Amino acid sequence: MSRVQPVVSVRNLSKAYPLRAWWGGKGTVFRAVHDVSFDIAPGETLGLVGESGSGKSTIGRAVTMLNPPTAGTVAFEGTDLATLSPRALRRMRSRIQTVFQDPYAALNPRMSVGAYVAEAFRLHRPDMNATERRAAVAHLFERVGLDPAFMGRFPHQFSGGQRQRICIARAIALKPSFIVADEPIAALDVSIQAQVVNLLQDLQADLGLAYLFISHDLRMVRYLCHRVAVLWRGRIVELAESDRLYEDPRHPYTRRLLAAVPLPDPAAERARLAARARDEQADGLPGDLVEVAPGHWVADH
Ligand SMILES: Nc1ncnc2c1ncn2[C@@H]1O[C@H](COP(=O)(O)OP(=O)(O)OP(=O)(O)O)[C@@H](O)[C@H]1O
Ligand SMILES: [Mg+2]
Repeated sequence: MSRVQPVVSVRNLSKAYPLRAWWGGKGTVFRAVHDVSFDIAPGETLGLVGESGSGKSTIGRAVTMLNPPTAGTVAFEGTDLATLSPRALRRMRSRIQTVFQDPYAALNPRMSVGAYVAEAFRLHRPDMNATERRAAVAHLFERVGLDPAFMGRFPHQFSGGQRQRICIARAIALKPSFIVADEPIAALDVSIQAQVVNLLQDLQADLGLAYLFISHDLRMVRYLCHRVAVLWRGRIVELAESDRLYEDPRHPYTRRLLAAVPLPDPAAERARLAARARDEQADGLPGDLVEVAPGHWVADH
């Protein structure tokens, strides 16, 4: 897909969750993600969009090995993560970070935010002493637009946007080359969302970061992402450069997603959703991806 070595290379990734049969019979599995493949180049942002339950977070957690895939491979800078020892995986994971939707849940309410960011160094940088850690944390606070004088404060003393900045400071502390951002702005005030997105862009330019950016916000995805993958029922149905995808969507699901503006009248909205369900029934399951133009992949339909 790209000429340079990708930071992340995902091949035929599937994730099935066991479904426990309540009647005591043999449990079956729910296939949340099925046969997904993509690369992300250094410094690139790949957007991942799709309706709720389509498997976006499952892919994000599989790629970082927080919740490993049931099939397929994830290679990070050319190394298959499944082949690493637990110790080597821990070391490698310092270079793969995640930023979540809810920064308050990620933070420890009883730990000062400075100590929280410093924890990254305590866990992974035994060579640093307390003074060095403090200086490094102060530098990170400045880098994400927070006053280092606030290092001793606790999470509840910050706004949502500031808390997300703290999580981002911790995510970049160990100089990762890849960050999974799972709905990082969805819980923030609209007025704050652009600031956090701009921070992510600045950090990408400075540090050469690659992002997997998971979002419901199709406008923000177009603005931020170089390429976009559209997920439907656990499968990629379309993948293309952002402008191309938005200007020339080919898969019926992508078209519906881009056209999906909820209607204010409940009866009209019910009718719209029913029509969409009928369309989806008629479409059947998406097939293999076909390259319809250079870099533009569409599932057979
Ligand atoms: N631990 C789990 N056990 C069983 N099923 C799960 C588990 N985690 C997720 N699922 C199911 O897998 C599917 C995909 O979930 P996932 O959280 O990846 O979706 P998503 O695209 O991130 O949705 P959202 O936009 O709501 O965050 C859903 O149907 C969900 O119910
Ligand atoms: Mg999710």
